[in-house]
Amino acid sequence: MRDQVRLVEVGPRDGLQNESSHLPTNVKIELIRRLFGAGIRHIEAGAFVSPKWVPQMADSAAVIDALNAPERAEVLALVPNEAGLKSALASQVETIAVFTAASETFSKRNTNCSIEDGLARLRPVVQQARDAGRQVRGYVSCIVGCPYEGRVPIASVVRVAEELFAMGCDEIALGDTNGVARPAEIRALLKAVTAGIPASQIAIHVHDTYGMGLANVLTSLELGLRSVDASVAGLGGCPYAPGASGNVATEDVVYLLEGQGLTTGIDLDALIQVGTWICNTLGRVPSSRVSAARSTRS
Ligand code: HMG
Ligand code: MG
Repeated sequence: MRDQVRLVEVGPRDGLQNESSHLPTNVKIELIRRLFGAGIRHIEAGAFVSPKWVPQMADSAAVIDALNAPERAEVLALVPNEAGLKSALASQVETIAVFTAASETFSKRNTNCSIEDGLARLRPVVQQARDAGRQVRGYVSCIVGCPYEGRVPIASVVRVAEELFAMGCDEIALGDTNGVARPAEIRALLKAVTAGIPASQIAIHVHDTYGMGLANVLTSLELGLRSVDASVAGLGGCPYAPGASGNVATEDVVYLLEGQGLTTGIDLDALIQVGTWICNTLGRVPSSRVSAARSTRS
């Protein structure tokens, strides 16, 4: 049997949180249904964050409640605090995704608190999510660089990742928030992080600002990771990481994985159609090389 990768589609959250125009709720629901139709089974569908901070995610409960997720699908949602957890637990969310950063300034800009205070705020959230029988993912942002502070020391990332793991996160998602990382940096970082956390419990979440996304995914696979985040058509960015582009495109990751003998269960052509549809809806061009190549060919 071929090796399997857990591909987590984050476009409906990381992608749409950064759109200047608010996409209607029914279009978000349609996007997720189409992604399910293309074989996506792990999807970050929204964020229970403050609507004052990220208004684009204010309808996350309505989106998630309307999903008729296929069997064995996993719906993830971002949760910053106990208020967000309460809403998430009232919805059909399998995995609670808490988040903090390895950079003080980014933590302050993104969550209005220091790293230490953020970790303290997340501790009861993780505990309560586990008590409620949910899986918990813990994001660490700025794993290589910070849009405000520049280079981030590996030791800072290791410390935050280990804290999240120790408080009970089932998976640690390492976020190259502003897409500055290169393979040698990812390799060095993963060697350090996997000294304390098994590779099987680490996900890689890269943005593609410098075009290094796929190379960084490949490096992560070589180091044993089997959980990879991507965003259909490369949608997205982070409202608190100025200049950062979207995640690495799911279409490109699927193409890469299939060539490496790794399965995802995703129908690449169907996925390209979803990416083209959402980009037409948003009035933009997919930032997927595979999508561009296939559409030129046909
Ligand atoms: P704050 O202003 O310090 O919090 O924000 P607060 O407790 O003082 O609350 C302020 C107001 O928000 C209050 O309303 C609260 O009720 C409300 P008011 O009394 O003024 O009417 N509020 C909430 N409402 C709904 N749901 C909630 C919630 N919490 C408070 N959960 C807070 C602190 C953390 C809440 C805020 O900073 C926040 O929501 N930040 C989220 C920012 C965000 O979503 N960023 C993007 C996602 S992270 C990312 O993209 C990186 C990632 O992709 C990985 C990577 O790429 O590296 C994950
Ligand atoms: Mg992100």
